Amino acid sequence: MHGSIINLLKRFVQVHYDHSTWLRLVELSGLSSADFEMMRVYPDEQMFALVGQAAEMTGIPAAELQEKFGEFLVPDLMLVYKRYVQPGWDTLAMIEHTEEAMHGAVRRDLPGTRPPALHVTRRSENELEVRYESERRMGALAVGIIRGLATYFDEADQIEVQATTREDGQQVTIQVRRH
Ligand code: HEM
Repeated sequence: MHGSIINLLKRFVQVHYDHSTWLRLVELSGLSSADFEMMRVYPDEQMFALVGQAAEMTGIPAAELQEKFGEFLVPDLMLVYKRYVQPGWDTLAMIEHTEEAMHGAVRRDLPGTRPPALHVTRRSENELEVRYESERRMGALAVGIIRGLATYFDEADQIEVQATTREDGQQVTIQVRRH
């Protein structure tokens, strides 16, 4: 996983808890350093260890933590990648274009990264189906990112996001509806 994402996880823990919680989390996860370089790619196991240990420490299920972390990530991701966002896009348009505009740029600009494949089908003006596919099995993070995008585009009260399969599979189907 890319160091920028792990650094955002660090900030998520610092903001919701404190710095000493982060240090304890790193230690309990069996990692040797609490610092992650922004431009390095780290083994996925380190991210899994941190999320699993965080769930154990807080008693909050890993899926719920991933959703909250996904929501938290969005403002920073959008800040870094805003040049790929077209004026006039809303939450649904952003999701439709993530694969080519955002994850495409990530694959091109950050060698070694492997963002998940997102297959998006527009069901109607107000409804999308997202098929997430990744061996990392982080569908809950995807649900959180979509909720974070709805907040970012000021549509949180209209957008409903629901996984219609298990969130921890390699393939996860997510319905996104606007009321
Ligand atoms: C809109 C702007 C977005 C940006 C800039 C962005 C960027 C990134 C980056 C940099 C990574 C790390 C990849 C790696 O380290 O290999 C990542 C991973 C991920 N992205 Fe995105 N992403 C965006 C939107 C989305 C959306 C809309 C979804 C879900 C529908 C999504 C789902 C995920 C998930 C779940 C991961 C974790 C890795 C995995 O599951 O394999 N992202 N993204």
